Amino acid sequence: MITVAFFDTKPYDKQSFESLKGEDLNIRYFENKLNADTVSMAACCDVVCAFVNDTIDKFVIDKLCDYGVKLIALRCAGYNNVDLKAARGRITVVRVPAYSPHAVAEHSMGMILTLNRKLHRAYIRTRDHNFSLEGLCGYDLFGKTVGIIGTGKIGCVFADICKGFGMKVIGYDPIKNKDFCGKYKDIKDIFKESDIISLHCPLTKEDKHLINEKAIEKCKKGVCIINTSRGKLVDTSALIEGLKSGKVGSAGLDVYDEETSLFFEDKSDEIIEDDKISTLISMPNVLVTSHQAFLTKEALTGISNTTISNIISFFNKGKTENEVVAQ
Ligand code: NAI
Repeated sequence: MITVAFFDTKPYDKQSFESLKGEDLNIRYFENKLNADTVSMAACCDVVCAFVNDTIDKFVIDKLCDYGVKLIALRCAGYNNVDLKAARGRITVVRVPAYSPHAVAEHSMGMILTLNRKLHRAYIRTRDHNFSLEGLCGYDLFGKTVGIIGTGKIGCVFADICKGFGMKVIGYDPIKNKDFCGKYKDIKDIFKESDIISLHCPLTKEDKHLINEKAIEKCKKGVCIINTSRGKLVDTSALIEGLKSGKVGSAGLDVYDEETSLFFEDKSDEIIEDDKISTLISMPNVLVTSHQAFLTKEALTGISNTTISNIISFFNKGKTENEVVAQ
């Protein structure tokens, strides 16, 4: 029997993993996030199963190695929260490289449609029997230019969706993808030409704050910025300044620089101390969702299936699938 310490558990995770796990796994579900304070809960386990806002730094990895944990099974695609150098040669890290690129790509388009046609405002208005159209004017997506930064699995699906709307699709990626239906451009041209910019690249040391003051300066006035990738790709202060000046016309954020202590939790009874997120949420042309882009039935099934298969392969078949290693 393989014992798994499952951190940051939500009811939908438990439901999905319990229905698919089979006989070989004994899963201990913890609601806590994995970090220096909670790592001791993994003692006596073979695997930790972690998610996007768990903090798997050197301290946590040292402790996991001391406890004899052999595998960190990430149930997500991104791995920016793991100190891979500290893990190298000591503990194996695996992830779910793809589950449903459609889930994230469709959420990105949902954010664009909502912001452009002001559906979030219309919904509130009509519930109050206010049927005025004042301030709800959008623009046709047909013929507009969308700039996609990162043309991997999600970026390509998103490009196809945009093509379906009759948009001009341009993209930037250091590695060209034959499946990308748009035209590759330099990043500076993405900033210069796009009416909408959507981020679909991973967070790395190099692209932290890719959307910063200088990048925003280069953009078209009124640009819509969509981030469903990772919060730290955007310099939030620069984004807020851009929104205040009108240079940025709207922003759809499914991820946020400082999301770890906020997202996935009900904070409705608390005072939020983070002034930046409060400012963003107060703006009528900003839509914040709490890292929800992945959340479809298909994606949850894909995540559970691949994570379980990663664990079983490692322990029972001696194979390491979907490993992430330090570059
Ligand atoms: P992928 O690995 O298929 O594609 C990422 C692409 O980004 C690659 O083609 C890579 O060459 C490119 N890239 C790397 N650095 C870049 C840079 N500086 N500028 C432009 N392109 C760059 O990954 P996939 O599956 O498409 O996922 C993309 C990102 O979406 C993930 O890294 C993750 O951060 C995010 N994500 C968010 C979810 C959510 O629920 N909001 C769920 C799943 C993924």
